[in-house]
Amino acid sequence: MTGLTESLSQKSAETQGQEPEGTESPSIVLVGLMGAGKSCIGRRLADAIGWTFIDADSEIEKAAGCSIADIFERHGEEAFRDGEKRVIERLLNEGPSVIATGGGAFMNPETRAAIRQAGVSVWLRADLEVLLQRTGRRDHRPLLKKGDPKEILSRLIAERYPVYAEADIVIDSVDRPAEETTSQVLGALRDHGVRLDAG
Ligand code: S3P
Repeated sequence: MTGLTESLSQKSAETQGQEPEGTESPSIVLVGLMGAGKSCIGRRLADAIGWTFIDADSEIEKAAGCSIADIFERHGEEAFRDGEKRVIERLLNEGPSVIATGGGAFMNPETRAAIRQAGVSVWLRADLEVLLQRTGRRDHRPLLKKGDPKEILSRLIAERYPVYAEADIVIDSVDRPAEETTSQVLGALRDHGVRLDAG
């Protein structure tokens, strides 16, 4: 557990030795449930504006040296949540960048506060059918293996959507080409006054 916590607190190899770049432009932080499209839209968004894209779940896996499913299994969800908070705080500190967070990250009040301070949050809101369809394509998510995915996602929608609604920007992630959702996010960021030239 100590080993996991320590490795998750360390800077990534790419940024080791570099000073944080400051917060002249906030990071763009995508939040939402599993299957909402955070990584897919985040990657496209970063490409469109020339910023670095970072998938927080991948960073956690890199730092821990094992998959998220393994972290859940070996260390438990609580240790994962603690590591998730540390990694996201570090990424925000190293920004600005486009960050796709895992579905539970924004539920942590401290992570939410850190995102509010150094980022602009974008909730990709999707309905149950869309989430079920998208998450059904892969089976790497430990939370969805605990029972019926439909019931689990319904419960998570009820628990999390009121909190995700605190995000700065809300975009409906419907079944349409990813380019369209990406353009909508870009437009909303501009309307929100985010400087997109400084990533
Ligand atoms: C989780 C979502 C996952 C991952 C972990 C827990 C959650 O990320 O962080 O399995 O609590 O919703 P994605 O939302 O990227 O699938």
